[in-house]
Parts: sequence; C-alpha cells; structure tokens
Amino acid sequence: MKSSKDLVGLRFLSSREISDLVKETLSLKKSLAQSSKPKPSLSWRTFVTLFFEPSTRTRVSFEIAIKLMGASAVLITKESSSVQKGETLLDTVLNLQAMGVDGVIMRHPDGGSPAFIAKHLKIPVINAGDGFHEHPTQGLLDLVTMTEKLGSLKNKNVLILGDIAHSRVARSNIWALTKSGANVFVSGPLTLIPADIQKMGVTYVGDLRTIVSKLDVINVLRIQSERQQAGFFPSIREYRHFFGLTRDKLQDAKPELLILHPGPINRGIEIDSEVVDGPQTLILDQVQNGIALRMTVLKHLIEDKT
Ligand code: CP
Repeated sequence: MKSSKDLVGLRFLSSREISDLVKETLSLKKSLAQSSKPKPSLSWRTFVTLFFEPSTRTRVSFEIAIKLMGASAVLITKESSSVQKGETLLDTVLNLQAMGVDGVIMRHPDGGSPAFIAKHLKIPVINAGDGFHEHPTQGLLDLVTMTEKLGSLKNKNVLILGDIAHSRVARSNIWALTKSGANVFVSGPLTLIPADIQKMGVTYVGDLRTIVSKLDVINVLRIQSERQQAGFFPSIREYRHFFGLTRDKLQDAKPELLILHPGPINRGIEIDSEVVDGPQTLILDQVQNGIALRMTVLKHLIEDKT
C-alpha cells in the first residue's frame, strides 16, 4: 500500500502490508469502541462510489467509513451515469477527476476494469469488486475477522466452500490467507473449481466431511441461481445435499470452528438457517469489521500520502 496509489487486488500486496492493515484495523476498532467519535481526518474530501453492480454491504460500509472520517461520498450507478448515453467508463472517471474528487471506489462486472482506470487517473482507485477477479476489502475484512478470533493464522486450516470459479471473494481470500501462512482448502462441484487452482497454493477437497474435524474456519460463498441455469450443477437441491453447509456436515467439527460468509446469503442453499444463526457464525462481525477496515484503507491511500 505504501508503494501504490491504488488498491486493486491483494495479489499485489506483500504479507507485511496485509498484516499491517489487519493490525491497524483491529486497533482502530478498539479505539472506536472506546471513544465516541473518530478524528475527521479527511475533512472536505470527496469520494465517488461508482457502483455498476448492486451492493448493500460494500457500498454502505465505504460510505459510512468516508463519513466517519469527515469526508463526503457521491454515489454513481450505471443507470444514473452518462455511460447510458454512450460515454466510456474512462471518460466518465476523467470527468470526475476534473471535478476534483479525491478518489474513486469502484464496483464493476468486468474483471480488470479498476486496474485499467487506475492507470489513467492521478487519484486513488479502490476496487470494490470486479467481475470474477478480486474483492480486496472483503478479503481483508475476512482476514481481520479470523485474526480477531484466532490470533495468528499461521498453520490454521481454512476451507473456502462453493463457487470458487466465479468468486472474486475466493480469490482475494486465497491471496490474503496464503500470504498469512494459513493452509487453504477449497471445496465445491468440480465444474465450479478452476482447473489450475492448486497453482494458487490451495488444496481441493471433494467432501468437506473428510477434513471438517481439522478445520479452524469455513468461509461459505454465495451460489448464484444463474450457475444452475448455465448447467454447472444439476439442481439447487443437489448442490445443497453435497456442498451446502448443513448442521449434519458439521458433526465432527471442533466446537470453536468459525463460520464466515461474505453475504448476501441464500438461506437453505449454500448455508442452512440453523448454521447462519448459530453461535459459531461471524457474518455480522465481518460486516462490522468492514467499517474499520475501509477506514484503515482510506487512511493508507489518502491521509498518509498528503
Ligand atoms: N460482500 C459483498 O460484497 O456484499 P455486497 O454485494 O452487498 O456489497
């Protein structure tokens, strides 16, 4: 982060940069819990949240982080932008830069678009999720949530369960976890697992029950119904039977096993309600940690560089 003006992916951060961001986030979270108000360290700054795909958690969390730091956020959606009238994405962001905005936080269906835009702008670009590529702030907040409960992640066993092939969250988690020394496993239908996934330093597991007793964390991914229509698996019912996180599959799990999900969740598909609402599940802790994490990222990219 010190050497880059942007945050486009965790692939490009060192282990040290990742662990510093996690430590700083946990320390900020503690100080936010103790004192009433954070310092408005980004007063009079303006950020654009450019969201060309729907979002609840990421967009609102960035907007809250921006407001807590004393800055303003302006939302632009695809439907409300002049992209609808034929303007290119690059022309759109060049116009935003000309207006004096201090940074662009961008979600886009095309992988690589934040990196492309970042090359053409002087102001920082933060990737808020691009296609199947990366979702770096989600990967970091997941790491913060695991670290908060487990301490060091070195040699901890983490399973990422679901649609790995189409998941930017999976990729950012894999980069963050392997750089933190965790043993990373992936599971899901083979049609949803990239053929060369082991090159990312992870191990494929066909049936999570074979390793559940050794796991410290399961991070469950959302299953999009479009995947079934596209023929990646025969039916939602079959998906749930083999890969859905149901209580019976957790029979041999350690009592302290942590369960994460980036949201939005599909109850009864990739995860059962009794697991979602159980004591091991940290879904709302993840959401809460997202605010301090995004404040820390903004501090690194903006406050520390001015
Ligand atoms: N986890 C996540 O990216 O959620 P949103 O799509 O609601 O931002």
